[in-house]
Amino acid sequence: MCGIVAVIGSREAAPLLLEGLRQLEYRGYDSAGLATVEATPAGPGQLTCLRAEGKLVNLQQRYEQYPAAGHCGIGHTRWATHGKPEERNAHPHLDGTGQLAVVQNGIIENHRSLREQLQASGVVFLSDTDTEVIPHLISQCLARLRSSGRAASGSLLLEAVQQVLPELHGAYALAVVWGETPGALVVARRQAPLLIGLGEGEFLCASDTPALAGFTRTILPMEDGEVALLTPLGIELHDALGNRVQRTPSLLTGTEHVADKRSFRHFMHKEIHEQPETAALWVARHLPPPSDAPGSPSLVALPLPAKVFEGVEQIQILACGTSRHASLVGAYLLEQLAGIPTSVFHASEFRYAPPPLAPHTLTIGVTQSGETADTLAALVMEEERRGLIADPAYAARLLGITNRAESSLGRLVPHLLDIGAGIEVGVAATKTFLGQLLTFYGLALAFAERRSSRSPAQLQDLVSGLRALPAQLKELVEEHDRRCAELAHLFADTQDVIFLGRGINYPIALEGALKLKEISYIHAEGYPAGEMKHGPIALLDSRVPVVSIAMPGRVFEKVLSNAQEAKARDAQLIGVAPEGPDTALFDVLLPVPAVDELLSPLLTVIPMQLLSYHIAAHRGLDVDQPRNLAKSVTVE
Ligand code: AGP
Repeated sequence: MCGIVAVIGSREAAPLLLEGLRQLEYRGYDSAGLATVEATPAGPGQLTCLRAEGKLVNLQQRYEQYPAAGHCGIGHTRWATHGKPEERNAHPHLDGTGQLAVVQNGIIENHRSLREQLQASGVVFLSDTDTEVIPHLISQCLARLRSSGRAASGSLLLEAVQQVLPELHGAYALAVVWGETPGALVVARRQAPLLIGLGEGEFLCASDTPALAGFTRTILPMEDGEVALLTPLGIELHDALGNRVQRTPSLLTGTEHVADKRSFRHFMHKEIHEQPETAALWVARHLPPPSDAPGSPSLVALPLPAKVFEGVEQIQILACGTSRHASLVGAYLLEQLAGIPTSVFHASEFRYAPPPLAPHTLTIGVTQSGETADTLAALVMEEERRGLIADPAYAARLLGITNRAESSLGRLVPHLLDIGAGIEVGVAATKTFLGQLLTFYGLALAFAERRSSRSPAQLQDLVSGLRALPAQLKELVEEHDRRCAELAHLFADTQDVIFLGRGINYPIALEGALKLKEISYIHAEGYPAGEMKHGPIALLDSRVPVVSIAMPGRVFEKVLSNAQEAKARDAQLIGVAPEGPDTALFDVLLPVPAVDELLSPLLTVIPMQLLSYHIAAHRGLDVDQPRNLAKSVTVE
């Protein structure tokens, strides 16, 4: 939520900042801004600040009219929390002299009391943001330090930031430039991501790797509480206690950090089409080739030590949004396939009402970005409350599932499953949902094999089904892309849609509804089909389409009966089901091959994604950057 970028080196900063922000725009697009510091031949430098409401393109235009010069600068793309999405609330925020600028991602929880304190000392605020307290606090601190005769320098700026940070409560990543020091900038983070990229004689710091990937492959992720002074000569890194820290940078590998739309109109469309490849990669990485040799490898290869699987009596999964929907499918598999009682929690609810502690519990945090504040905080809380109990049976056992191994989640949990779907830019998660599902199939199969909860033949059949998935997905994506594009006009005036599913496909109904809501702004609800008659059926009439997922298996007949009930209320019925006489009742069929019911969510989700995509695109909406949303939700 909000992206920040900072650069210092030998090149003009503004073009690098704008390119970095372009890569971070998925984190928020309510406004954007940048500040640069230009060195002047005599004395201090000159700070220029440009800000614009709305998308980055508006800032780009402003920059074309009023170029901001200098080799040092900071930039920001905003998702509004405190203060409306207006230019006066856009970052950077300045101190009273207009020569010190700050960008921030996070929330300063005690901003009200700090603001009152600053106002009492005569500070005038120009925005409604929580961030604006920071430049004023740093400015006052600099004034105090300089009153003892100290000259302006990067070290002085660093010292002032270090003195102010303990006053800030909450989570943040921030960057500061000062007109007096054109050759220095300071960055800091606490519970919000920040990475430093090391170029040749230049450094770029950003909230996420896509902003760095085009600049350098050598990165230094900052740890919680760290503060760094960046100059063209190097990085001076300090921990939260002020101690100097030396750490070896790491390398970004692969192309997964580069966001490229290729020939698609939207990232979401491209990412839906990438799913056969996501599945093929997952199969290649995790399903060893079939072998009859004695002692042949186990069914699934997961990079987890045996102790993660040993003695687990129950599993709890913490996640938000689409990641939670994938977790619901995961819970179904872990219970029905591996026989392990499993609960899924909204991470934001778990934080404030966790269930009583149970022994031998594996806690799984699922977040594609690895940065969702609620999921991270819920995991930290679980670790802390278990740490208070002496009995080792209650010790925290944490596992993370993410698409961003280098994220905060990656640093928080001892064990990690990287879904390896490659960078996802569209705010609506698609290929990462599939990657999360596949990861849960792998995990459930691994548990089931170890516990012999299903026969080897049954498990092997599922593995064979997974091997067939990439080819099935390829056909399905192509076919439904065409069908859904043709259907989209039917939803031109639709205001409500109901999605029905049961059993393992109930979470897919939830996911279908979420996809439609977030990109097309059509009200949609996902329901367990059998629950309709307990209330929601009252909503149905000829203006409310019902999308019903009916896959052969345990609840096939039941779902068809529930669909009949909707049809009897004049609802237009769209079926996600195999072709055949049983499914002739649907007004429109989005056909899906009849696979093993346990594997069906991997296929039924495709028409859900494409239907939402084409409805939103047909309505001319901004599919990749829907209103009010951001790709990673790094605030509570
Ligand atoms: C997905 O389409 C949504 N944009 C959203 O629900 C998302 O899944 C949620 O914010 C959780 O994000 P995470 O997976 O990065 O934790």
